[in-house]
Amino acid sequence: MYILLMGPPGAGKGTQAANLVNKFVIPHISTGDMFRAAVKEGTELGKQAKACMDAGKLVPDEITIGIVRQRLAKPDCAKGFILDGFPRTVEQADALDKILAELQIKLTRVVDISVPSALLIERAVGRRICKQCGATYHVRFNPTQKDGICDVCGGETYQRADDSEATMKNRLSVYEAQTKPLIDYYQNAGVYTAVDGSQAIDKVFNDVINCLQG
Ligand code: AP5
Ligand code: MG
Repeated sequence: MYILLMGPPGAGKGTQAANLVNKFVIPHISTGDMFRAAVKEGTELGKQAKACMDAGKLVPDEITIGIVRQRLAKPDCAKGFILDGFPRTVEQADALDKILAELQIKLTRVVDISVPSALLIERAVGRRICKQCGATYHVRFNPTQKDGICDVCGGETYQRADDSEATMKNRLSVYEAQTKPLIDYYQNAGVYTAVDGSQAIDKVFNDVINCLQG
């Protein structure tokens, strides 16, 4: 399975990717997670990425394409992967086509988790993530059993720096301007399916599985 998960900020890409990893045992490749790891490590890449992420803007294409090219060339991607949050521009999509052609890989499906923008700010602002294992929660829609403590590993949960209402507004307008055109791009390629991401998490997952296996 070579899966590409698309969708606006806060749509549920990371949540559904975690479910897909459990089902198909293939790597989850999230450019956002890769940038956040680089920020934590304090690398040069992390410094460049942090300024863009904090402003709700995209990290420049040449940087992003480079890290994805390196990651997809690793042996664990040969039998499948879940790409989450890449590509986000037409230039990135063109680059991905070239990278996949070199690796002789064809995308199984582009699954777009479609959610009306009115729901997205609440999803992002209420999101909490485990510092230790990265599990994702939501204060209202998917709360931890104990406040601030991860159900899976007992780690502390935190809020992402870019999950404020003001930064989310920027992220949503960047999505509209730069990423939404990829819907046409993948429709034209004949690999696009949208699922209704406004449903409950398990219903969305059912729909994702149906469109991958259908
Ligand atoms: P990234 O980390 O990719 O963020 P994003 O695309 O904005 O998406 P999110 O991670 O915010 O949301 P998600 O769809 O994963 O939702 P989740 O499952 O967590 O990117 C961050 C930044 O990095 C970018 O702004 C940019 O600066 C940079 N970047 C990354 N990729 C780049 C690229 N390719 N090019 C350039 N720059 C790049 O769910 C959200 C919340 O909702 C959670 O709390 C969850 O529990 C809850 N939830 C999920 N599903 C449901 C549901 N069905 N019902 C109710 N609640 C739900
Ligand atoms: Mg995510």
